[in-house]
Formats: sequence, C-alpha cells, structure tokens
Amino acid sequence: MLSISQFRVIKVVGEGGFGQILLAKDQRDELFAIKQTSKKKLFYAKKENVSSIENAILSRISFNYIVRKVFFFEDRHNYYLGLEYYHYGNILKVLNRDISDKNMFIKKIFAQLLETLSFLHNNHVIHRDIKPENMLVDDDYNLKLCDFGSALYDDLIPLKSLPNSFAGTPDYIPPEVIGNELLTPAIDLWGFGCSLYFIYTGICPFHSETNFRTFEQIKNGVFKKDMEIIPNSALDLITNLLITDPTKRLGYGEWNNGYPSLLKHEFFVELKK
Ligand SMILES: Nc1ncnc2c1ncn2[C@@H]1O[C@H](COP(=O)(O)OP(=O)(O)O)[C@@H](O)[C@H]1O
Ligand SMILES: [Mg+2]
Repeated sequence: MLSISQFRVIKVVGEGGFGQILLAKDQRDELFAIKQTSKKKLFYAKKENVSSIENAILSRISFNYIVRKVFFFEDRHNYYLGLEYYHYGNILKVLNRDISDKNMFIKKIFAQLLETLSFLHNNHVIHRDIKPENMLVDDDYNLKLCDFGSALYDDLIPLKSLPNSFAGTPDYIPPEVIGNELLTPAIDLWGFGCSLYFIYTGICPFHSETNFRTFEQIKNGVFKKDMEIIPNSALDLITNLLITDPTKRLGYGEWNNGYPSLLKHEFFVELKK
C-alpha cells in the first residue's frame, strides 16, 4: 500500500480549490506530480466524489494529449492522485517563456485540444473545465490536458442530473449551465473558444467587475472583438464557438466524427502546410 510518507516532497507546483499539486520523488528517485485533495474541503463543498471521479476517468482512458495517471491512494485526510510530471507546467507558463513561433505553437496546441475533445466526446466524457490552466505542456511542447475533477462520464453520472454549482471564477461557465439546460459536449466547445480568446488577450471574453455582470454578459454572448490583438482567423473561430445557443455552435453534433467543421476552419489551415 502506498502512503505519502514514501515520497519526498520537493515543492508545490500548483494550487487548486481543494488542495495542492506537489512535485515529489519516490524511493527510487522518480519524479511525480501528486494532486493532493483535502477530504475536509471536498466535504464542505459537497463535492466528496470529485477525486474518485477524476481517478476513475483517468484510469479508464488514455490518450496522447491527456495527462498520464500513475497511482492513486488516500489516507484519513487526503486523496493523492499521482501523475506524470510535466516541468513546463500549463500553457500560460510556456507562453511567458521565450518560444520561437508563438502563433504556430498556439495553433498546434489547439489542434491537439480539438483532437482530444473529439476522443473524449466519442468516449462519452465531457471535460467541463476547458481553460488554459488545465492545458499542460510536455517536454516536446505537446498538449497534456489535465484536471478531470469536473468531468462527466456517462456511466458514472447521468448527464441530466447535474449539480448546478460552480467553484471559483464564473468566467468560463457556458450559458446553458447558467440557464440550467440540458448539457451536451458543446460545453467544451465553449471552453475551447474562451481559452483561445484568453491566450491572445490575457482576459476571459466575458470577464466583468462583478460575477453578476459576468453572468449577464455570458447569457447575452457579448464580448469585445479585439481585432488589434486577435488574428482574424482566430477571431472568426472564437466568434463561431461563443454562440449562446449550443446547437448553433460550430461543430455541434460532430462528437463522433472528429469535428470536421472546426478542423477545416481557416485558423488551422497553416498547420496543414
Ligand atoms: N502533472 C503535472 N505536472 C506539472 N504541473 C501540474 C501537473 N498537474 C497539475 N499541475 C499544475 O497545477 C495546476 C492545478 O492542477 P489541476 O489538476 O488543474 O488542479 P485543480 O483541480 O485544483 O484546478 C495546473 O494548472 C498546473 O500548473
Ligand atoms: Mg485546474
């Protein structure tokens, strides 16, 4: 049986709502990222299942662009999810570094995100928390999507009975969640659009001074189309994704065949050259 005493914690690499992500070494000096989640915090947030759901999903699926789970254990106070460690961290940290062709890097990562969403949706998983902080980058500058704590797996939770509670910032919440409507995989397309917008501008498209105002902006689908900062093709893709009616979003209903209408969008054309 594994226990946390068998690891040497080197540093904290991430802070989350319910715990911390630790960089730790095992007895054979192998490095891992350990997502430590406090049972007490989960209990008070009425989210007792979050850690086990994340573990269950990561145990069932494996994909090139998704974090690799290595182990899972618990003690009286915490759950510990052991993941492969990616020292570059998330995409925001990578973009702060000196990388040669930022524009091509962004296109590549978002093409990989699209491939990942089509894998997940085809396997009846909705991630529900697509945002730059959850997009890790490995040594080869490829995507490793993480944080399946909000994900829905249709064998685990019936899609219709969703808890309508959000933790943290409301910036990325899709209008159908605010309106308590039936959820579809198109909520990840909304997250895709918000994330791409954030990557270019450094702010969420619907961010406002108050949460109330943010919700209003999301429900109305109003955001600033900053043409000086966002390249044309990216802005067109974003505009086609941030549509309040999920059935009108680009790619709606294409969950089982790899999102062809997004793939052939002008934003991805340069990648094919
Ligand atoms: N495997 C990993 N390797 C390196 N950094 C990681 C890893 N997993 C998470 N992190 C860092 O920790 C942050 C939070 O992780 P995440 O799983 O999203 O936790 P939370 O559910 O609390 O949001 C990420 O944004 C990233 O910076
Ligand atoms: Mg996260």
